[in-house]
Amino acid sequence: MAEDGILQPGAVALVTGASAGIGAATARALAARGVAVVCASRNKARLDELVAELGAGAHAIELDVADAASAESLIARLPEGLRAIDILVANAGHDLGGRRRLDQGAVADWASIIETNVTGMIRTCHAVVPGMVARGRGHVVTLGSTAGLKAYPGGTIYNASKFAVRGFTEALRLDYGDRDLRVTEILPGLTRTEFAGRRHRGDAAKGTAYYDSFAETLEPGDIARAIVYALDQPARVTIAQMVVVPTHEG
Ligand SMILES: NC(=O)c1ccc[n+]([C@@H]2O[C@H](COP(=O)([O-])OP(=O)(O)OC[C@H]3O[C@@H](n4cnc5c(N)ncnc54)[C@H](OP(=O)(O)O)[C@@H]3O)[C@@H](O)[C@H]2O)c1
Repeated sequence: MAEDGILQPGAVALVTGASAGIGAATARALAARGVAVVCASRNKARLDELVAELGAGAHAIELDVADAASAESLIARLPEGLRAIDILVANAGHDLGGRRRLDQGAVADWASIIETNVTGMIRTCHAVVPGMVARGRGHVVTLGSTAGLKAYPGGTIYNASKFAVRGFTEALRLDYGDRDLRVTEILPGLTRTEFAGRRHRGDAAKGTAYYDSFAETLEPGDIARAIVYALDQPARVTIAQMVVVPTHEG
């Protein structure tokens, strides 16, 4: 642990999309380091279960990043002691109705992917970053993807969303390069979560079959560990991007 790093007991973290997958694993990893974790997503019941597991210091809050009012009111809806967020993990995202050609998908699904993965991430950062700037302290972690490095067939909208995360995150880092606000993009490869099942509107069996069709997948904890590594650096070090892929990708 870096002595002047931001990952210290008593720091406050906000994790969006904390009810499942990478977000839940990250909330667990941060709580294990003594961080007070605000767990945010649409499914409050699942967040309550996670917070009960994490114990004192953790807090659940309903957040729909695709809803402007929900994101804008986020800080005001938090207990006062949790409003000074040191660490933001902007993780909420989906690919609902994805992995098909543009003409074969529904425009409402395409819009929802952009509204969540891009606009929602921007809204979340916009709600949190001004406080970090005012306090002169903060670390923003966004969840990009290897889908933001290279396009694939059937990926038009999801690829576009993750290319956008990459451009946004890099520019955000450069905007605050003159102050103590660090910005990191984590770019996972295939990770076994609820993500693939949700692509098929919650059909978990289809999600499992998808992950099983690959030689190897990452686990959510693998990505949480990468996030902790980025947060654990001394003040002079910024991990700008970290690409994390399964060893056997075939
Ligand atoms: N799994 C992979 O292979 C992979 C690879 C690269 C990048 N990623 C990225 O990693 C991030 C996390 O994905 P995951 O794999 O952990 O998927 P997941 O298991 O499906 O979890 C997604 C999380 O996002 C939340 N979410 C979705 N829409 C939301 C909204 N409008 N407002 C607030 N929360 C919302 C969900 O919670 P609620 O339903 O409770 O709102 C859930 O907690 C995403 O940005 C994804 O694009 C995943």
